[in-house]
Amino acid sequence: MEIVKDIVRLNKIIDEIKQKGKTIGFVPTMGALHQGHLSLLQEAGKQCDVKICSVFVNPTQFNDKKDLDRYPRTPEADFALLEREACDFVFFPDEKEIYPEKEDKRVFRFGRLEELHEGRTRPGHFNGVAQVVSKLFELVKPDKAFFGQKDFQQVMIVKALVKQLNYKVEIVPCAILREADGLAMSSRNVLLSAEERKVAAHIPLWMGKLEEMFRKNTVVETILKAIKEKIALQPLMKLDYLEICDADTLEPIDTANSANRVVALLAVFVGKIRLIDNVLLQ
Ligand code: PAJ
Repeated sequence: MEIVKDIVRLNKIIDEIKQKGKTIGFVPTMGALHQGHLSLLQEAGKQCDVKICSVFVNPTQFNDKKDLDRYPRTPEADFALLEREACDFVFFPDEKEIYPEKEDKRVFRFGRLEELHEGRTRPGHFNGVAQVVSKLFELVKPDKAFFGQKDFQQVMIVKALVKQLNYKVEIVPCAILREADGLAMSSRNVLLSAEERKVAAHIPLWMGKLEEMFRKNTVVETILKAIKEKIALQPLMKLDYLEICDADTLEPIDTANSANRVVALLAVFVGKIRLIDNVLLQ
């Protein structure tokens, strides 16, 4: 496994792979890797000849400076995990490599998709994601790129980005990997205190309860009220949003129409740490 820090070297590697006619599977990450990230890399290995992972904590997608500052950075542990997964190349650039000019900040328009849910709480977040993902796609030139459904809205943003810019990459959404107690794996989980971690285990239980109520055709408003009441009883938690939405537009719905795909989206603060989860209901 080679760790690549500069774009000149990366360009050479990509040219050589392309000349050999091999396909590239790409997994962009912000590091602090866990099994969820590694599952994407394993999928890349099944579908492509060469596996490339990027590790870059992208400052432009953080609207909260404190969140950026405390974001875990564990490059040495990340490299060891990637090596074990037989990753071929890790792109590990510093900020100047990705953003050489402070003014070079691309602006995208995603309409409602960037205003809803994560976009409402984190203004500018998806523009930052699109900035870095577009740069990474142009550098790595992947045939397929692998993204976790854990960030449900992000997958939709990346698909919209690919469409807008006519990139040739295929976006492959991958299932959410969970801890033994059901909590969705996240780089942010290590920031939770022991007590907060215990409380966070309620999240998958609530999502399960929500799904059960949905299956019993409970009215959407009643489901949301019931789950929100449970969240309100937890002193360490503060709800950001809980919505039941059309999975293709992410617009909240009042009643489920059997023709549409439906997803429940949740964001909740546990202490200072914001966690997200989702479940596809139909
Ligand atoms: P990061 O949070 O490091 O996540 C990298 C990829 O891993 C994303 O596609 C994310 O959805 C996926 N992932 C995270 N937790 C997962 C889990 N429990 N199961 C399955 N997949 C999981 O998402 C980002 O970084 C950034 O926004 C990025 C796309 C790299 C742009 O900076």
